[in-house]
Amino acid sequence: MTQKLDLAIRGGLVVTASDMFRADIGVSDGRIAVIAGSVEGAAREIDASGLWVMPGGIDSHVHIAQASGPGIVMADDFASATASAAAGGNTCVMPFALQERGSSLRACVEAYRAKAEGECLIDTAFHLIISDPSPAVLGQELPALVKDGYTSFKVFMTYDDLVLNDRQLLEVFEVAREERALVMVHCEGYDTIKFLAERLERAGKTEPYYHAVSRPEIVEREAAHRAISHAQLVDVPMMIVHVSGRETMEQIRWAQQRGLKIYAETCPQYITLTADDLKGLNMEGAKYVCSPPPRDHDSQQAIWEGITQGVFHTFSSDHCPFRYDSPDGKLNPKARTSFRWVPNGIPGVETRLPILFSEGVSKGRITPQKFVELSATNHAKMYGLYPRKGSIGVGFDADIALWDPNRRETIRQEILHHGADYTPWEGFEVVGWPVMTIARGRVVAENGKIVGEKGRGEILRRDISSYAS
Ligand code: URP
Ligand code: ZN
Ligand code: ZN
Repeated sequence: MTQKLDLAIRGGLVVTASDMFRADIGVSDGRIAVIAGSVEGAAREIDASGLWVMPGGIDSHVHIAQASGPGIVMADDFASATASAAAGGNTCVMPFALQERGSSLRACVEAYRAKAEGECLIDTAFHLIISDPSPAVLGQELPALVKDGYTSFKVFMTYDDLVLNDRQLLEVFEVAREERALVMVHCEGYDTIKFLAERLERAGKTEPYYHAVSRPEIVEREAAHRAISHAQLVDVPMMIVHVSGRETMEQIRWAQQRGLKIYAETCPQYITLTADDLKGLNMEGAKYVCSPPPRDHDSQQAIWEGITQGVFHTFSSDHCPFRYDSPDGKLNPKARTSFRWVPNGIPGVETRLPILFSEGVSKGRITPQKFVELSATNHAKMYGLYPRKGSIGVGFDADIALWDPNRRETIRQEILHHGADYTPWEGFEVVGWPVMTIARGRVVAENGKIVGEKGRGEILRRDISSYAS
């Protein structure tokens, strides 16, 4: 019996994390049903000749509609963030359900789910953020949530509302070990930042640039080493997120060379921006305030070394959008008094893949296969979505992005779909562009236009990661 196909993608060059080959792809019921030299008889055909057919991007580090402190509002809800992600070649995003201190973790997750339900254009899956590791959270809520498919969580070594002390970190790591959940760590030292920030403020150095000065690389490197030591002590694998430069990368490589299961993520800002971008006049520098801050050209070079040597497993956006010209965003009334009040984070879910493709593949720094590994496959493997997502193979979800590897584009705010009112990459030129995004067999974005419907994206339950034990 021949299978009825809903869609055939014909004549493209299929790229996976391990292969590049010419083939047609047939899709049935949202899954890849056949990969063959020629696929005919589908209800709809897409001509992919001249295009690369790659797994849709998975962005395993985004912030969407997350509580951000008094008077501050994140610029994306689930509808705008997932539309923006889709236009940028992504078929799945992974935001964070944040536990507010004093609240039940389960209640926070349910409230976050309610924000996403019926709003998503592409699939999502939630990590957790643990800010209050009470006995009830560690003993009951967290183990139960891991069993329900929330198999990774992030902890912070800085930020007033989120920081955990060393004892708390160790206790959370122990639960991660017992439950085989993957723990993600934001490595920047709380006390050192506070010390440096207050000293800068006393000296009247309050412009956005001093955000970067208050969080030098040593602060990140020290925290990374401390987190690695804690993970070693507890004997638990760990993911260090948003690594910004040479010193932290070297700590991670050092640990990996000793056989420790330390994984690492980096982001577009650390291969393209520098701290000098925060020097923009009239508060323009606030557009680039994120943590850890972008560093310098040597750090960018080090990140490329880490990418090519396999130190980094995932390349995520850390999309964390705030409006610039808005009292609930970067230019909130207190932000002019000190960098400390500029909300941390930059938008980037739509620009992550074109930047990595252009700076990596088009400039010859990485192979197309490595691009797929860093942008999709490793995210799925790391966070328990593989083999449903993250590759092109029979049985996988038909999550596919068609790329024109030669298309030149200039990134501009006016072509993006996020809720922010600016992009840090205004005027940045790229070679290589996602021209169509297909999520579970349906076209959701085409040539910069959103053609999918919100509500079709599911909130996914994830398996235990094979990287977590
Ligand atoms: O500045 C950043 N990165 N904001 C997002 C929150 C985080 O730490 O990932
Ligand atoms: Zn972080
Ligand atoms: Zn983040």
